Amino acid sequence: MKLEDIKKIAVVGAGDMGHGIAEVALLAGYKVALRDVEQRFVDKGLQRIGESLARLARKKRVSEEDRREMMGKIETFIDLGEAVKDADFVIEAVPEVMDIKKRVFLELDKLAPNDALLASNSSNMSITEIASVTSRPEKVVGMHFFNPAVVMKLVEVIKGDETSEETMQLTLDLATRMNKLPVRVEKDSVGFIYNRIGAPGLILLGAIVDRGIATPEEIDARLKHMGMPMGPYELMDYVGLDIVYHSSLYVAERLSAEYGPPEWLQEKIEAGDLGKKTGKGIYDWSRGRPAIDLSRAKEDFDPTDLIAIQVNEATKLLEEGVTKNPDDIDKVMIHGGRAAFGPFQLARGIGYDKLARRCEELAREYGVEAFRPTETLKKGNI
Ligand code: CAA
Repeated sequence: MKLEDIKKIAVVGAGDMGHGIAEVALLAGYKVALRDVEQRFVDKGLQRIGESLARLARKKRVSEEDRREMMGKIETFIDLGEAVKDADFVIEAVPEVMDIKKRVFLELDKLAPNDALLASNSSNMSITEIASVTSRPEKVVGMHFFNPAVVMKLVEVIKGDETSEETMQLTLDLATRMNKLPVRVEKDSVGFIYNRIGAPGLILLGAIVDRGIATPEEIDARLKHMGMPMGPYELMDYVGLDIVYHSSLYVAERLSAEYGPPEWLQEKIEAGDLGKKTGKGIYDWSRGRPAIDLSRAKEDFDPTDLIAIQVNEATKLLEEGVTKNPDDIDKVMIHGGRAAFGPFQLARGIGYDKLARRCEELAREYGVEAFRPTETLKKGNI
């Protein structure tokens, strides 16, 4: 299949990510089938697409005529077979639970045309394992968008063990055609690039709060003060605490127990406080985005610590061959999180020696092996 052969894209799952991906496909001129398991979910997804396109039309990013045309190019479905029967490219955006993903791919393999490519928007799960339930693993690929999909430029394109080069290239081309910035992830490894680099951050941030060094608001205020669009806690609420929770369980199973969800996160999940989507999480979202008081920025929390462990984790990706290109890692962190600089750009400014020493201290202070500096970090020169 060639890029020009893709006319219709089916998006399976109409939630935060699914509706956003469907909108991105509409903006790129594709016909879209949006599917979810209940009418109210597809209705909500369609409503959110309508609101977002109206916002873009108000800002004159799309014309009124194009907005109307796009709304006419999307159909919604409950029946999976109807949604995907004539799709050329299918993007799955269902909950981050491996059994659910496998069930969906088993069905997709039966119901989608034989030559259709099947992509998963998973943010950290094995594409190889998802593909293993299909009869076409060479046509299964990771296509990880970032939230909100319509705003964030990055798409990680992940090669499963059996994904063909043709599938990779077509997915990279499709992402570019969707006005995104795709980055190749060469090895199907837990968390890919963005979420793997973020994983030790959750350990450190959790420990800082548990030890009473700073509160989530004091940490967010400090980082927002430095120019981040959202602090890490606000971002977790925005993405959904259930997603962060399942993701850290998955990483813990695959890498080490240290990456498991902190206690406060388990408590939030048990209480049903999942962040923006339920109106309450770490913050109160019932009246919209929380107003974080920047004057509460706490000096006791040193953002360099977060940078040190993230650069260290990034060096593990180079050692493991997840990508060979440090510039791609910088690109992922800049465009996936709207950061001003990537980890290696920061490391060159701060100095690899200093970061490696700090990682050694943090590993000792917190008793966390995941913070231990790699040989690559100690050598520096990246
Ligand atoms: N539709 C259309 N436009 C939208 C939009 C939407 N749904 N949401 C935001 N925008 C546009 C706004 O119109 C605005 O555009 P202009 O700059 O042209 O005015 C721009 O995006 C920024 O929005 P605002 O400044 O009005 O602030 P906001 O509260 O609406 O935006 C935000 C919020 C865009 C999310 C911003 O806070 C941000 O970038 N946060 C960081 C997001 C991030 O890091 N995402 C990655 C999450 S991790 C992930 O997704 C991976 C994973 O695996 C879990």
